[in-house]
Amino acid sequence: MNYGSGMSQHSRIEILSASPAAIARAARELAEGGLVAFPTETVYGLGGDATSDLAVAAIFKAKGRPSFNPLIAHVSSLDQAAALVEIGADAHRLAERFWPGPLTLVLKRRAASPVSLLASAGLDSVAVRMPDHPTALALIKAAGRPLAAPSANLSGRVSPTRADHVAQCLDGRIAMVLDGGPCRVGVESTVLDLTEEPPTLLRPGGVTAEELEAVLGRPLRRALETPDAPRSPGQLASHYAPSLPVRLDALAAEPGEALLGFGIAPECVLNLSPKGDLDEAAAHLFAMLRALDRPDYLGIAVMPIPERGLGLAINDRLKRAAAPRSPS
Ligand code: TXA
Ligand code: MG
Repeated sequence: MNYGSGMSQHSRIEILSASPAAIARAARELAEGGLVAFPTETVYGLGGDATSDLAVAAIFKAKGRPSFNPLIAHVSSLDQAAALVEIGADAHRLAERFWPGPLTLVLKRRAASPVSLLASAGLDSVAVRMPDHPTALALIKAAGRPLAAPSANLSGRVSPTRADHVAQCLDGRIAMVLDGGPCRVGVESTVLDLTEEPPTLLRPGGVTAEELEAVLGRPLRRALETPDAPRSPGQLASHYAPSLPVRLDALAAEPGEALLGFGIAPECVLNLSPKGDLDEAAAHLFAMLRALDRPDYLGIAVMPIPERGLGLAINDRLKRAAAPRSPS
């Protein structure tokens, strides 16, 4: 793909093993308003200074993301989050139990919050999360500011779970990616909106709804099928999409299709988890969708995934990958 002659300030993206020296270099890049991709336990993020309108604008540009879609501010401590948003009793309990980890909380923006209004798309709420990855936490600390970080892929496409996935889609658009190996969880964080009652699940993810309900002591509202304008771009019908058409609940491949298996599946090309383990399947999901997204296949057929535990997040992403594509 040609991004325009001489328009970009970056030529080749650098893949840096996440050493202390590389993290220090990445932190300097961030302090100067640059962008750095970094590993988290869920997927790789495309990070920039969440308090800088210019850095946030550069994130939207690099991703080709519609700017009305707000970003998550990543923090390395609860105190840092408390400077950005109002942490009520529910948020406090959830953060104590699940942070660092794959849970994003949408909370009321503090009047003096330094988070760029562009990052929160002009909303009076801000999404915050503390990622459970040593490189991510070290980078946020070294940068000394919250990092806005959407998944490090082009808007609407499959999220990256390895540094080379980031390099494939963002080469020429950002200076560097810190390589922390494959992501442990493999699907994005759960997004929970605590600004209204009952708390609303905006995106299923690494922490399950049942786990949240157990801590909150009351049921969540599931906002996933809301037909009106999405509040969370993870709610857009077509999202997380490979180039090939995706067919769900397939028991066998049609001619020309590649079968993505789950459980015992002798005919499949790749298997999310031969032993039928949902955590393992989530960790493999995006990498295997990418691997099968090849011009020598006509489509990707995916075997049924049980709707429990991380299966909810997997099926949510698969449904969107299979949805009719919105013109982009
Ligand atoms: O696991 C993750 O969450 C990854 C890693 C990099 O941390 N990040 C990620 O970011 O998936 P992104 O930008 O792809 O998804 C952020 C989600 C979107 O669905 C967005 O609409 C929602 O969070 N969101 C952010 N701010 C919000 C707000 N103020 N109100 C409602 N939804 C919000
Ligand atoms: Mg994303």
